[in-house]
Amino acid sequence: MAERPYIVGNWKMNGTRAMLSEARAIDRAAQRHMKVEVALAPPYTLIHAVHREVEQIGVGAQDCHPGTDGAFTGDISASMLADAGAKFVIVGHSERRMGHGESNELVRQKAQAALSASMRVIMCCGEDAETRKAGRAIQFVTEQLTASLPEMADAAEKLTVAYEPIWAIGTGNNATPADITEMHREIRALLVKLYGEEQGKAVRILYGGSVKPENAREILSADEVGGALVGGASLTADSFMGIALAAGDPLDN
Ligand code: PGA
Repeated sequence: MAERPYIVGNWKMNGTRAMLSEARAIDRAAQRHMKVEVALAPPYTLIHAVHREVEQIGVGAQDCHPGTDGAFTGDISASMLADAGAKFVIVGHSERRMGHGESNELVRQKAQAALSASMRVIMCCGEDAETRKAGRAIQFVTEQLTASLPEMADAAEKLTVAYEPIWAIGTGNNATPADITEMHREIRALLVKLYGEEQGKAVRILYGGSVKPENAREILSADEVGGALVGGASLTADSFMGIALAAGDPLDN
């Protein structure tokens, strides 16, 4: 991995203020492992509190609205998140694409809204089990990303892509390193096509889906894996930093 590996925790709809102690512990551990870039996306309600508690790790949000302000009850804009201390936004997570009917076009608008608010973007993509079984995973992910990635100039500078096969999320069944590398190479080729050689190559591509301390070293040592997006295993400092430690100590290929 050329750049520092990027290990991002997605707390999803988990966490009350009682969990701030975990965020503090993650931050303290991250200060001792500077070889790895660590970040957390807590629920909206904790963004400001986590931002105030930590010194080292990045703090981000799990979603944003595509607009800047207005009559959108219950929604939160990218600039409001930035104001609360968020530096990045995860967009296009499968739990939003499926659970909230988000289209590729909406995901693209959200990514562009986050970039316009000077935030970084983690763009998620990934196929379901049926699509993989049918041998169409690469085609599906390529089409999904082509229709979701931001079209703004210099978008790639603030972009991270996270490949998260839906069948691997929260199931304990991670994709194999070989399958991850195959998909990440296709994503890399697409990024180069869309953003040019230099910018396209600089985008980090994370893997997500049942990453745990026990499998992290093997996954993170695979070719073209620039880090991990971690759900369940990011909820305690022990397991999350186990993954970050593995990222800083890859296997020799
Ligand atoms: P998981 O979730 O690590 O719990 O599988 C990953 C994700 O949804 O980002």
